[in-house]
Amino acid sequence: MTSTAHRAVGQPIGRIEGPAKVSGEATYAAEYPVKDVVYAWVVQSPVARGTLKSVGTADGTLAVLWHGNAPAIEKVDDPELAVLQSDRIGYRGQAIALVVATTLEAARRAAQVISLEIDEEPHDALLTADHPGRYTPETVNPAFPPVSRKGDFDAAYAAAPVTVDVRYETPALHNNPMEPHATIALWEGDDLVLYDSNQHPPGVAATLGEVFGLPAERVHVIAEHVGGGFGSKGTARPNAVLAAMAAKVVGRPVKLALPRQAMFSMVGYRTPTLQRIRLGAERDGTLTAIGHEAVEQSSRIFEFAEQTTVVTRHMYAAANRYTGHELVRLDMPTPRWMRAPGEAPGMVGLECAMDELAEQLGLDPIELRIRNEPAAEPESGVPFSSRHYVACLREGAERFGWAGREHKPRLRREGNWLIGTGMAGATYPAMVQPSVARVRITPDGSAEVAIGASDIGTGARTILTQIAADELDLPVERVRVRLGDSTLPKASVAGGSSGSASWGWAVTGACRELRRSGKDEAVFDSTDLVKKQETDGKHAYGAHFAEVRVDADTGEVRVTRLFGMYAAGRILNPRTARSQFIGAMTMGMGMALHEEGVLDPATGDWVNHDLAEYHIPVHADIESVEAAWLDERDDDLNPMGSKGIGEIGIVGSPAAIVNAVWHATGIRVRDLPVRLDKLL
Ligand code: MOS
Repeated sequence: MTSTAHRAVGQPIGRIEGPAKVSGEATYAAEYPVKDVVYAWVVQSPVARGTLKSVGTADGTLAVLWHGNAPAIEKVDDPELAVLQSDRIGYRGQAIALVVATTLEAARRAAQVISLEIDEEPHDALLTADHPGRYTPETVNPAFPPVSRKGDFDAAYAAAPVTVDVRYETPALHNNPMEPHATIALWEGDDLVLYDSNQHPPGVAATLGEVFGLPAERVHVIAEHVGGGFGSKGTARPNAVLAAMAAKVVGRPVKLALPRQAMFSMVGYRTPTLQRIRLGAERDGTLTAIGHEAVEQSSRIFEFAEQTTVVTRHMYAAANRYTGHELVRLDMPTPRWMRAPGEAPGMVGLECAMDELAEQLGLDPIELRIRNEPAAEPESGVPFSSRHYVACLREGAERFGWAGREHKPRLRREGNWLIGTGMAGATYPAMVQPSVARVRITPDGSAEVAIGASDIGTGARTILTQIAADELDLPVERVRVRLGDSTLPKASVAGGSSGSASWGWAVTGACRELRRSGKDEAVFDSTDLVKKQETDGKHAYGAHFAEVRVDADTGEVRVTRLFGMYAAGRILNPRTARSQFIGAMTMGMGMALHEEGVLDPATGDWVNHDLAEYHIPVHADIESVEAAWLDERDDDLNPMGSKGIGEIGIVGSPAAIVNAVWHATGIRVRDLPVRLDKLL
């Protein structure tokens, strides 16, 4: 189909919008110059549970909206978007009123001093493994059964000569994209225009249409540049509805930019997880029983059930298996997606438990994994489309310099530093979703590709340009990709590491249709092809390796080296791919060592809701983080032969660091993050 004259795919092309971003020319949602714009500030509930009786008025404001006066909105799937509709307060930090004023300062000031009459009720904010309210949800995200069983786990575990029974905990983690959530809303007659920072312009348009009783095409969502999302912008968040509602009431455009602090309760977070992992093995390391259970939380408002132990259904062979999930509904904000929801926390439990099993067996942890490599999906028996996990383990070990590592901990010391290495596996599903793309040849012979996708900083715009350039046999300079707009052909969400595969498929199809037809415009809809795809058996794989040093006196942990070896399909752009991998690995380092929503059960809120107190890795924490990949190409998946790469870097990298800390110190820290006080 393509000639060899131009070969853009596979080239390390820099982000096309890079110069615009670093020069400040790229316009983000809150930055659009909109005439007569006014400002909104959210009043957040100071209590975790209760009834809002009344909200006072404030001088110098255009409106104070609350459930006593807010316009009614239509019923929506996501009850979190039914803002200002009820007197019930479901969590501390919930939007209970909105102040609108002609200046940001006036809106903020009024929101801070406005009187609230609230009947407070006792609340329950603390997740415990034996919480009396725990129950098994009907499904876990996105639609998995909550429990899976194969063989007889209990009998096999009881009979196993070597067993591990451990509990691992991961804390609440908070999405902190560089660009906080923001919306400018304006009404043009009955049509709604939103400049909104999100991962899915067509989805946000459809949802806002539902909320205001409009067809999706009457809502225009613009998200040309988005400063990150990590899942927290995957669907419309309350800020979009609040801004649109306020704009309707005051009859002027309304800007609502969430301050960083508000994001900790209003846009979702990764649920804390309480995990129990039981492994039963023969003395040679052959697993006979794998059990993985998780208790996690959701809010009173919405059941969000993270798929924490689903990853264990795919990793290792064993005839007898059990995975389960329990949920507790608390007076807490609703958890949502955060990069590799499910896989990231679940692999902490599984891969740290595997390390503990290797320790018991006196076996190399890589060898333990190789001995339990399944020939097909361990639960369903579906063949893998491609699985190069063992190759990642072997090649990664080689490049990292794993050979000769002592199995026993606390044997390496340089001065005051205890030194250790650790590893963990990585996997993420290779997903694809239906999308539509349009391609047009302009009079000067250039191509214009249009797709309503969102480039959240991943390099999607650049990759789609490369794909179209090759398909049309044009240099990349002659291809222009338009995205980030709901009026463009309907694209799937920038989530689930599915963007490049899904949008790339649609763009490839449109380009091929254009060449086949000989016309100067073509549209391609991948829906029918994508629907035929089986999802089981399709995953990307990787292996993470870490070297740490721990100060023997202070417990300070430094990550000397973090290395990821991936088999993630054809790599479309090595430069943006590396950035995705090492960005996610850095986030994995945060999960292992830094990040933690610290709950104050007395108030039902996190005490550290800003970036001064919610710690993330900074440049000084990164000594060496590198990614490499095998030359894999899986043509069963999509026309590019690619797999998603946005999330796999945070899967397993935290466990590799935790395992390395054990190797350095001999201490198993089973509740993340590994703070220094846990090593003393
Ligand atoms: Mo990602 S959590 O699927 O946006």
